[in-house]
Amino acid sequence: MRVLGIETSCDETGIAIYDDEKGLLAHQLYSQVKLHADYGGVVPELASRDHIRKIIPLIDEAVKQAGCDKSSIDGIAFTSGPGLIGALLVGSTVARGLAFAWNKPVIGVHHMEGHLLAPMLEDKVPEFPFLALLVSGGHSLIVEVQGIGQYQILGESIDDAVGEAFDKTAKIMGLDYPGGPRLAKLAEQGTQGRFKFPRPMTDRPGLDFSFSGLKTFAANTLKAQGNDTQTLADIAYAFQEAAVDTLIIKCKRALKQTGLKRLVIAGGVSANTELRQKMAELMQSMRGEVYYPRLEFCTDNGAMIAYAGLQRLKAGQINQNIEVRPRWPLNELEAV
Ligand code: KG4
Ligand code: ZN
Repeated sequence: MRVLGIETSCDETGIAIYDDEKGLLAHQLYSQVKLHADYGGVVPELASRDHIRKIIPLIDEAVKQAGCDKSSIDGIAFTSGPGLIGALLVGSTVARGLAFAWNKPVIGVHHMEGHLLAPMLEDKVPEFPFLALLVSGGHSLIVEVQGIGQYQILGESIDDAVGEAFDKTAKIMGLDYPGGPRLAKLAEQGTQGRFKFPRPMTDRPGLDFSFSGLKTFAANTLKAQGNDTQTLADIAYAFQEAAVDTLIIKCKRALKQTGLKRLVIAGGVSANTELRQKMAELMQSMRGEVYYPRLEFCTDNGAMIAYAGLQRLKAGQINQNIEVRPRWPLNELEAV
């Protein structure tokens, strides 16, 4: 089976073609970063319009890259939520239109399920069951995964997602959008031990997160200490250290609670070098295994949507309508 995947939930237009025998045949990505940079964040209406401009040329490019004929595509998968409603609607209407024109089945995919399954595109594939830490710009979740669509949410953010906290802190520090990776880069120049940020909600039981306080802590430190280059780097270091450490503490707790030995980390923040390194150390100490997507599939992409959609289409799940769900809890998905 061969599936065309379409991702348009936020500020990246991602198109891919995945074949369950041959693997990933094509992968095209257009990032709107430059478009939104002047505004310091994603402007939803501009995002929708830019998806409209890019989506068809990228589909053409992906078909060319795959070296296949359109008629060999057996189904279409698109991100139907969660995300920005206008952006989601671009992907869903194009997917539905193509499905109608080509007479193929279509399925809406949950964006976070796409992230969760992204490590399946790599050589080292996790077996079920496993624990998943999903860390993106919109969500921070710890999920017990028994199989595709069998997700029990053990913990989640009660305020800002961790990626959002990276972005907001970066903005306070005067870094350009998108702030997360820039803050991580700046932290490389930081001094260990100069500032100590709190590890929110780790002093009580439970697996939920709260990251918004770290942003306030950064703002207050900045106000008190000034904003010379070294101080900015030291704040970035302390922020990242606290965010990563908090994720480590909660994952360790969840692994102990569930007895699971396999950990998947996915979503934009899983591209963070410090997080990847610390999680590898944690899993080594617990004699477990950690699984990540390759760097380019940590952030939004079409490959993860094509993969997740293929699993569902193959199981006979079809959804021919264009409905999108800007809010959509992950644990409402149907099992495969
Ligand atoms: O998964 P994603 O591409 O989009 C959403 O579904 O939200 O995640 C984007 C988020 C942004 O908040 C971005 O700042 C963060 O991932 N991010 C990072 C890094 N790369 C991306 N955060 C920290 N360190 C990074 N290297
Ligand atoms: Zn995402």
